Amino acid sequence: MSGLFDTFRLKTLTLRNRIAVPPMCQYSAIDGVSNEWHRVHYNSLARGGAGLVIVEATAVSPEGRITPACLGIWNDEQAEKLGQIAREIKASGAVPGIQIGHAGRKASANKPWEGDDHIAEGDPAGWETISPSAVAFGNNLPRVPKAMTLEDIKRVREDFVRAAERARDAGYEWLELHFAHGYLAQSFFSVHANQRTDEYGGDAAGRSRFLRETFDAVRAVWPENLPLTARFGVLEFDGRDEETLQEAIELTRYWRENGLDLLSVSIGFSTPDANIPWGAAFLAPIAERVRREAQIPVASAWGIDSPLIANTTIEQQQLDLVMVGRAHLQNPNWPYQAALALNKDRPSWVLPAPYAHWLERYRVSES
Ligand SMILES: Cc1cc2nc3c(=O)[nH]c(=O)nc-3n(C[C@H](O)[C@H](O)[C@H](O)COP(=O)(O)O)c2cc1C
Repeated sequence: MSGLFDTFRLKTLTLRNRIAVPPMCQYSAIDGVSNEWHRVHYNSLARGGAGLVIVEATAVSPEGRITPACLGIWNDEQAEKLGQIAREIKASGAVPGIQIGHAGRKASANKPWEGDDHIAEGDPAGWETISPSAVAFGNNLPRVPKAMTLEDIKRVREDFVRAAERARDAGYEWLELHFAHGYLAQSFFSVHANQRTDEYGGDAAGRSRFLRETFDAVRAVWPENLPLTARFGVLEFDGRDEETLQEAIELTRYWRENGLDLLSVSIGFSTPDANIPWGAAFLAPIAERVRREAQIPVASAWGIDSPLIANTTIEQQQLDLVMVGRAHLQNPNWPYQAALALNKDRPSWVLPAPYAHWLERYRVSES
């Protein structure tokens, strides 16, 4: 039986434990380029002991950013700076991962602490958004997107491919395609966002086409020996959940057969009218079902900040990896603290040697 502090092997990588830092936007970039803030942030998370640190949603094109302050990976300067972060994460003993995505109709927004709403139409800070159909998300995000042409679809697919190549060349060893949270890819899958009548809409096969084709195109350039993963909202909590879940599992089976190595199971967030049953590890049983029915390793987040609960989700084979988000912002040393809480008294399992050596010999409380 595996626990939170057992290693996890995927392709040629071995993670030092089952704890991952999920992607978390910092809204702190200029022109999509990372800076000192991102370096310190990702370094401290990696040094804290997680087995995998995934760099926040990084846009495949300028229009794909959620806010003007989001990271991008559409040019060489951005990739070079992100490469430095990958090397530093690795030097601290974690696997460097990155999430690439396109925000679709949720793009062109203000930072969360500056309103979290769409930038006003006509404000030069904003831009035209795109989505499968000209349907706004609603609520705080009322901007009506442009319905994508077939040419747009091809271009975005190519943007994902170029971004994956840049991430690969920058030294990232774990790629996560952002197919979740109501952004562009999720919008293709969602009946709330996709009203197309061509081959990219309609039934589940049509609504999944963009996600299958984009995945296949990235698979062709991402190294075979490294994990290719996706984050995907497998349900919306909109009253249509069993149907959506079955469609999502079907799509996951396709991805697995075509080279997906792990699915990060998440929520669709395609409608403001969802009724989400927030609670500790509430998504874990759903992730377990995807794991079992699609026969694929899974990770998941959402309310897993207790070491005991995190360990249980691994022991009970609900999850293969636990994503610990906000608890890591509160305490970058969460993995080490979790090890102590679970009586795993070997700091070297989670901390790099320059820390572990001293903590193993001389417990702070004993000196
Ligand atoms: C500040 C912040 C930024 C986030 N940015 C992203 C992101 O870039 N990509 C993503 O897939 N999820 C993002 N999320 C969601 C987290 O990855 C995670 O799923 C969520 O925080 C729930 O996990 P938790 O309960 O452990 O915090 C973000 C969450 C927070 C708090």
